[in-house]
Amino acid sequence: MRDAHPNAIYLKDYQQPDYWIEHTELTFELSDDHTLVTARLDIVRNSQRPASGCLTLQGQELELLSVALDGNELSVGEYQQDDESLTLQGLAERHQLTIRNRIYPQHNTALEGLYQSGNMYCTQCEAEGFRRITYYLDRPDVMSVFTTHVIADGERYPVLLSNGNPVAEQQLPDGRKKSSWHDPHKKPAYLFALVAGDLQVKQDTFTTMSGRQVTLKIFVEPQNIDKTDYALDALKRSMKWDEQSYGREYDLDIFMIVAVDDFNMGAMENKGLNIFNSSCVLANPATATDAAYQRIEAIVAHEYFHNWSGNRVTCRDWFQLSLKEGFTVFRDASFSADMNSATVKRIEDARLMRTVQFAEDAGPMAHPVQPDSFIEISNFYTVTIYEKGSEVVGMQRKILGAEGFRNGADLYFDRHDGQAVTIYDFTKAMEDANGVDLTLFKRWYKQAGTPQIQVSSDYDQARQQLQLTLTQRCPDTPGQSDKLPMWIPVQLGLLDSQGQDMAIQVEPASAWTAASQVLHLTEAEQTFVFHGVTERPVISFLRDFSAPVKVEFEQSRDELLFLLQHDSDGFNRWDAGQRLMLGWINDAMAGQFALDEAAVSVFRALLRDASLDPAMVTYLLSLPSEAYIAEFSADIDPQAIHQARQQVREALAAALTSEMAATYQRLQSDQPYAPQPQQMSARALKNLALGYWASQSAEGLQQAQQQFAAADNMTDQMAALQALIHSGERSLAQHYLDRFYQQWHNDVLVVNQWLSVQAGSAELASVEFVESLLQHEAFDWRNPNKVRAVIGAFAGQALCHFHATDGQGYRLLADAVIRLNGSNPQIAARLLGPLTKWKRLVPQYGGLMKAELQRIMAQPDLSKDVYEVVSKSLV
Ligand code: PHE
Ligand code: ZN
Repeated sequence: MRDAHPNAIYLKDYQQPDYWIEHTELTFELSDDHTLVTARLDIVRNSQRPASGCLTLQGQELELLSVALDGNELSVGEYQQDDESLTLQGLAERHQLTIRNRIYPQHNTALEGLYQSGNMYCTQCEAEGFRRITYYLDRPDVMSVFTTHVIADGERYPVLLSNGNPVAEQQLPDGRKKSSWHDPHKKPAYLFALVAGDLQVKQDTFTTMSGRQVTLKIFVEPQNIDKTDYALDALKRSMKWDEQSYGREYDLDIFMIVAVDDFNMGAMENKGLNIFNSSCVLANPATATDAAYQRIEAIVAHEYFHNWSGNRVTCRDWFQLSLKEGFTVFRDASFSADMNSATVKRIEDARLMRTVQFAEDAGPMAHPVQPDSFIEISNFYTVTIYEKGSEVVGMQRKILGAEGFRNGADLYFDRHDGQAVTIYDFTKAMEDANGVDLTLFKRWYKQAGTPQIQVSSDYDQARQQLQLTLTQRCPDTPGQSDKLPMWIPVQLGLLDSQGQDMAIQVEPASAWTAASQVLHLTEAEQTFVFHGVTERPVISFLRDFSAPVKVEFEQSRDELLFLLQHDSDGFNRWDAGQRLMLGWINDAMAGQFALDEAAVSVFRALLRDASLDPAMVTYLLSLPSEAYIAEFSADIDPQAIHQARQQVREALAAALTSEMAATYQRLQSDQPYAPQPQQMSARALKNLALGYWASQSAEGLQQAQQQFAAADNMTDQMAALQALIHSGERSLAQHYLDRFYQQWHNDVLVVNQWLSVQAGSAELASVEFVESLLQHEAFDWRNPNKVRAVIGAFAGQALCHFHATDGQGYRLLADAVIRLNGSNPQIAARLLGPLTKWKRLVPQYGGLMKAELQRIMAQPDLSKDVYEVVSKSLV
């Protein structure tokens, strides 16, 4: 199948191709047992390269039928072919190359290239899936104008789609249907897409800022047509937002979204034809939770924003992946912040960074935002590339200010429109538009690992001075040691005894940007002096999570409580609360936890404070997750963390029961459900309150059952179900789980939520129980959403069971990886995440995890995907 040891490829080896492909004309003939592909490529020599006359095209699992050069069919000896490529030699300046090949989409379980999902055909070409369609220069710097013809049985596949604008539709003499599409914007092959199916469409229009009318269409399987409204609305809001915030408008006559059930990732930004995992686009109130609505809004926006950040300006090579992904995540995060609450969005982002990204940075797969090597690029669609990449863009905005950043973005898009560029072309545009030197800052792209800042302060009452000494260091990561200091923008504030922000004057003055309240830490150690500090301040450090770093800063519990109550920065109010709770959990681990009354009364007051955004209160009252606690622990003991957190949760719930009940009652509403920010915010707090309440009292439990039965929306129904599960009343929970399945067994997406709450629950998800879910009629190994719902939720959330002391949880995960390695390597490799962290755990667990990794490593025919993750984890 594969080489025993697949090779890494390196950024430093990048070279331009010897040929470009100016135009690509593709014809697909879909039939039941195979698909015929004809590719006509207009190739032209790259004048920047020596005239080799040699062209090597990539291709995988293709049945080659014929190769013709300028209309003359070549005989077998006139080209070379192996498992992964097709090579022609002795070529001149320009040719038309015609390749015919056969593929088998109905046998494609990897879900890369052309495959079947249910009754439809669809494609997934990023990163290197196009080579499973035809022989091609499958690399993002080769940008071509595509024309596509799709031919199929028109009865069964009335909808035939590809990128760009529709140009012709005809009935062929043999009865088949042919649809032709032309995309005038040149693009790399990874943005190619094709869809064929019997689909229904929801349609609308959008008028761009320059007055052009664009047709918007969402295609779904017939049973889902009532789940398209929200995505369509989110799309229009995204289009408007990109015009207002970045001055960028849409550039084709039509924009299409297609929902498919079998998809490895969330969604894909194919030019003019986005393909979505159905879970990331379909929603109606009865079946989708508020969280699902928010995810849909963010992902629709993300894929739409790629039209500029990714498609009009794309990546030179896959080492530049974060150029499009980091920037686009930053753009969708700003959009979500504008549509909902900016503070809440920032809290959610920081939680993800601190749990998942910091863990990645501290593990064997740690890599820079611009990696310098990889074995399988699919393994690099990571939280580092996406979320840390977004943070790095966000820091540039903190440094340059909103206007300077916008100027830089304008220059970037204008300068590089139609090009395939690098991350440093992005920073260069930021530099040139602002006249700044970002040399030092660019280390964020090259150095992996999470920098750690140590803070010490010294207040001098007589001189009214505060001295702040900051040190930074970044731990070693695989292949990188002795890191250089980074440019870290530290947003901060000083609170007086009334909780008001004090005016700030800093020495050296050049280290302070007043507009964004940012202190610039650029050296390994620096001392800053604040003048005119009339009383001892409480320091609010790293406001708004202004840099993706860890902070070591001793602040007393009184100070944390003070910040929780008074900080003008909402993010740091939340952070102070989390630090306080982490302190309790550590106390509990040390066997000396007692809830202090002062803190309880602050939390009570927060619950009663109707001036606060309920979503914000929800976060303030939520304990850090077990994964979050683990990231703040030196040696992770998952069972100890679980016990300690339970103890604290129990104590807090007991202390706040009556406030929780009152909060629940206060937030009851008889308004009809709408997925709209104020309502969602109120429901979040109401349902948090229900969870606490139901865990403490029979009335609360009664209320949860009533809410389950009466709910007209999935948010309330699912929250009630979760409250019942978390109450620990097992047979009651089982009763409602059964009722839920009865009610929803015909809706795939709801059933997946049902699988996931069970597999992810500390109360239910023993290894045996999860094995029974894998046997359930609703489970299917071929569907990535179901694998994620069961295996992913189990290993990612039910940590007390995944880390069962007999190692059976690890075995279950490893068995799943081995099973999926052959059928869907991308999913197999992604599932491995939790096992790769084995060195961070206390040896009792780490040893068992390592043994499972070794068992996987010993399997024959490991895919590149799985091989890369496992081999790096065992180093
Ligand atoms: N490029 C997609 C996105 O971030 C993600 C993706 C990657 C989808 C690879 C499929 C395959 O929007
Ligand atoms: Zn993306």
